[in-house]
Amino acid sequence: MGRFETQVGIVGAGPAGLMLSHLLHLHGISSIVLEARSRDYCEERIRAGVLEHTSVQMLHDSGVGDRLDREGLRHGGIDLGLNGVLHRIPFVELTGKYVTVYGQHEVVKDLIARRLADGGDVRFECGEVSLNNIDGSRPSISVVKKGNADEIACDYIAGCDGFHGISRSSFPNGSLTFYERTYPFAWLGILAEAAPSRNELVYMQHDRGFALYSMRSPRITRLYLQCRPDEDIGQWSDDRIWSELVTRLSCRDGWQPTEGKILQKGVTGMRSFVAEPLQFGRLYLAGDAAHIVPPTGAKGMNLAFADVHYLSEALRAFYHGNNEEPLKAYSATCLKRIWKAQRFSWWMTSLLHRFENEPAFDYKRQQAELEYVASSRAAATSLAENYVGLPL
Ligand code: FAD
Ligand code: PHB
Repeated sequence: MGRFETQVGIVGAGPAGLMLSHLLHLHGISSIVLEARSRDYCEERIRAGVLEHTSVQMLHDSGVGDRLDREGLRHGGIDLGLNGVLHRIPFVELTGKYVTVYGQHEVVKDLIARRLADGGDVRFECGEVSLNNIDGSRPSISVVKKGNADEIACDYIAGCDGFHGISRSSFPNGSLTFYERTYPFAWLGILAEAAPSRNELVYMQHDRGFALYSMRSPRITRLYLQCRPDEDIGQWSDDRIWSELVTRLSCRDGWQPTEGKILQKGVTGMRSFVAEPLQFGRLYLAGDAAHIVPPTGAKGMNLAFADVHYLSEALRAFYHGNNEEPLKAYSATCLKRIWKAQRFSWWMTSLLHRFENEPAFDYKRQQAELEYVASSRAAATSLAENYVGLPL
C-alpha cells in the first residue's frame, strides 16, 4: 500500500476541486486531487457555458484567465422572449457588468494545465474512493489506482465530487438535512456546428414550451428545448429537433437560429437540491456535491466557484493566521449565497417554462410577469444583478 501525506485531500477534478487545489497552491497549502474519470473525459464533458462576472474575476485574479480573455465571448445582456417577441435585458447598463460565455470543459482544461504546470498532484482514474476518520484529527482517503491500494493522510478533506459522488454519503446518518424540488420537465440539449446568428443568448417562453439559444464559440451553437422528464432521445431525429427549435425560437422580426450538423444531444433533468450543513468533522462539501440548481439561471458552475473561494480563504486563515473561525463559519457563509442562487434559478425556471395542466390563470400571470420584467427597470435590474453574479 502507498501512503501519501498532504494538507487537503480533494475528491473530484471538476471546476470545484480543480479551482480549490489551484487557490490553495497560491496560498502555499498542499493538496492532492483524486478523480474517478480519465483526464480526457473531464476535459471533453460538455456542461455549463456561462461565467458570472464574479467567476471571471476569480479566474483572472488567480492567473488562469489568459485563454478566457482571448476566446471567451463577453455578453452585455440577454434577450427574454415571449412567443417570438424579444425584450433585451441590458446587463451593462443596469449593473456595469458582463457575463462571459466560455465552456465549462475549457475552464477544466485551463485549470488542469495550470495545476500540472505548477507541479500539482492530480490523479485521474482513481477507483473505490472512500473517506476514513472524518471526525478525527487525521482523516484519510483510500483509493485504488491501477490495481494498487493507496492511502492519503490529510488535515482536511474537500468533497468536490459532484451530485453522484461519495462525499455527501460519507456524512453519518441523520447529520444532513435535504431540501429538494423536482420539476415536471427536462431539457433536451444539442451542440451544433453552426455559427451563432446572434451575439447574445435568447431565453424564449413559448406556448409549446421553453427554448434557449446559446453558444460556445464563433462556430458552435448550444440550444435547448423544454421536454418531458422521461423524454426518449431516440424519438428525436435531427430534423425533428431543428423543426421544434425553429418553431419555438423564431422571432417576429424575422430572426431564427441557423441550423447545422448536430454534434451531441442529450436530456438533462431539472432539480433544485441543497444538503445542509456543508461540513461534518474535517469533511467539507463544495459545488454540486452539496447543491444542484436547475440550469435556467446558469448558476451551477458559478456557485461551485463561490464555495471554493470561501473554503480556500477559510483554510488560509487557519494555516496562516491560526484562526479556525472562518472554517467553522464555512457552511453558514456558503449557504447564504447558495439559497440566493436557488431562489433565482427557481424563479427563472418558473418564469420561462410551460407547466403541464396548469390553470389558465397561472399561465396568464406568468406571461404578465415576463412582460413586467421586460418593461420595468427595477425588475430587469433584479434579474441582471443576479445573473451577472451577486458580490462574494
Ligand atoms: P462536477 O463538475 O460534477 O465534478 C465532480 C467531479 O468528481 C467529476 O469530475 C466526477 O467524475 C468526480 N467524481 C465523482 N465521484 C467521484 C468519486 N467517487 N471519486 C473521485 N471522483 C469522483 N450548469 C449550468 O450552469 N448550465 C448548464 O448548462 C449545465 N448543464 C449541465 C449538464 C449536465 C449533464 C450536468 C450533470 C450538469 C450541468 N450543469 C450546468 C451544472 C454544472 O455543470 C455543475 O454545477 C458543475 O459541474 C459543478 O461543478 P463541481 O466541480 O461541483 O462538480
Ligand atoms: C449553456 O450555454 O449551456 C447555457 C447557457 C445558459 C443557461 C444554461 C445553459 O441558463
